[in-house]
Amino acid sequence: MPDPTSSSDPAVTVAVAQIRQVEQGQARSPVVHTIFDEATFTASHIVYDPVTREAAIIDSVLDYEASSGRTSHASARKIVDYVHSERLTVQWQLETHAHADHLSAAPWLQQQLAGKLAIGAEITRVQNVFGKIFNAGTEFARDGSQFDHLFRDGDRFSVGGIEAIALHVPGHTPADMAFIIGDAAFIGDTLFMPDYGTARADFPGGDARQLFRSIRRLMELPDATRVFLCHDYKAPGRDHFAWETTIGAERTGNIHVHDGVSEDEFVAMRTARDATLSLPNLIMPSVQVNIRGGHMPEPESNGTRYIKIPIDTL
Ligand SMILES: [Fe+2]
Repeated sequence: MPDPTSSSDPAVTVAVAQIRQVEQGQARSPVVHTIFDEATFTASHIVYDPVTREAAIIDSVLDYEASSGRTSHASARKIVDYVHSERLTVQWQLETHAHADHLSAAPWLQQQLAGKLAIGAEITRVQNVFGKIFNAGTEFARDGSQFDHLFRDGDRFSVGGIEAIALHVPGHTPADMAFIIGDAAFIGDTLFMPDYGTARADFPGGDARQLFRSIRRLMELPDATRVFLCHDYKAPGRDHFAWETTIGAERTGNIHVHDGVSEDEFVAMRTARDATLSLPNLIMPSVQVNIRGGHMPEPESNGTRYIKIPIDTL
């Protein structure tokens, strides 16, 4: 039997050891409370150390009405209410990636609750790609400076007294990160529920082959690892939303990428499927806001902020 904690991948080896510590009762498991936004099919997670009551908020949602350009905070308010009711202190506002289907509420949540805003360091690549597409001026910095912290692969951090590690899992976008906090893995848009499959890889900077390799890295984590998704869209035969599974369930049952599916098979499937998908309804506002750390573009001379739509480009 190979040693289950050894991997040729140093960051994965650290993550496996961290999860085993929880499994063996030597470290605490975080509490996870999820708020699901049915308008954008997004699962926002509040993760906390039950002893210190320090928390991270992962992938929050700002309500946005596309027809009017109006923003509101009903979804984010649920996070604030939960944090207050549980008497939590927020340390982190984490983004698994620059989302293309919803706007981040992180700046508003920072005002209400504090917490350092963090994303993957490769966000600079996403800022460069979309900075060009949206013809953003030089006032739009492409160095990630809109965020308080940029994570690289293998970076360690903590939520209260619980150890955590960031893994770079590109493919859906170049900057996707998975945050492994104790025995809970927040994997963003890589895997979805086993009956739904995987995230698309056709946005600018996406890559199906990279996505497969990122998923296989995640599948090196112990089978019992708790896995929390960023989205769920139900699935044929399932009439409720779900956002929690395990690495074991993904390895045995994921319809796109269970054990035994080869990289070439996955890439062929993913590429064919992506060709049938339309762009998300909110991609234009989402990308412009999220590459700015959830801030709206600067106001024009009349004091109003605008979202642009490039014609015949995306
Ligand atoms: Fe996404």
